[in-house]
Amino acid sequence: MILHQLSQNLKGKIGGTFSLSGVQRSHRAVPGSAMDQVESSKKAAAYKAVDNHVKDAYRVGIGSGSTVVYAVERLAQRVHKEGLKVLCIPTSFQARQLIINHDLELSDLEITPQLDVAIDGADEADAKLTLIKGGGGCHLQEKIVAAAAKLFIVVADYRKDSTALGEQWTKGIPIEVVPMAYRTVQLKIELELGGKAVLRQAKAKAGPVVTDNGNFIVDWVFDRTYDWQKVNQQIKMIPGVVETGLFVGMAKIAYFGMEDGSVKEREV
Ligand code: A5P
Repeated sequence: MILHQLSQNLKGKIGGTFSLSGVQRSHRAVPGSAMDQVESSKKAAAYKAVDNHVKDAYRVGIGSGSTVVYAVERLAQRVHKEGLKVLCIPTSFQARQLIINHDLELSDLEITPQLDVAIDGADEADAKLTLIKGGGGCHLQEKIVAAAAKLFIVVADYRKDSTALGEQWTKGIPIEVVPMAYRTVQLKIELELGGKAVLRQAKAKAGPVVTDNGNFIVDWVFDRTYDWQKVNQQIKMIPGVVETGLFVGMAKIAYFGMEDGSVKEREV
């Protein structure tokens, strides 16, 4: 009931300046400004990914974040104009709201456990398309949905296109943790791996960020390049860790919207 009311209130507001989770950014960037350029590049990447990878009768994983807003916008255009029939499986509360507000068909992994494609943003991608995700705190469900898809596609702007992780994204690797374990997880990470593990604080609430799953997030700010596969496994072995924002060997194709308006495609 509450969700229904919220969705009714939000109808028509996505694409404006409303921010549900802090990651649906305003589309009213000043024309010609740097922000406008970033928004245009996100849109170009997202539109291209949807045009190239979504077909009729597809089961589509819908990622979270500000770039995915454009992917859903494009998907809705195609569904309503071309009559495509697609099932949309969300990765967060935000994604669920996007699907509902664009009148797309909502499903979940219980009803639809295998997906044709998942489209999601990233905070950074290295040369092998190893990703840092979870800047918006949604990486647990994002990883589950991506792993359920035959093909996982990344859509992002040029600021996310790196050779090595940490080159441009300096906020660390998000790690979702069970609340009662956050201190022990922080200490173990710093002891075993170095760097700094910081409990993420909420912006419009006192205290820590609480995820869609009722957990906390520790951002591990690392100080060198690692074997990410190994580090991912090592962090996941710490009791209390639910999931890391390291996506190793999952993304097959990435679309980066570039500053000049073009879209760069990278495949591994
Ligand atoms: C959400 O938790 C993240 O994993 C996002 O997918 C990622 O941060 C990309 O978000 P933007 O498209 O807003 O950059």
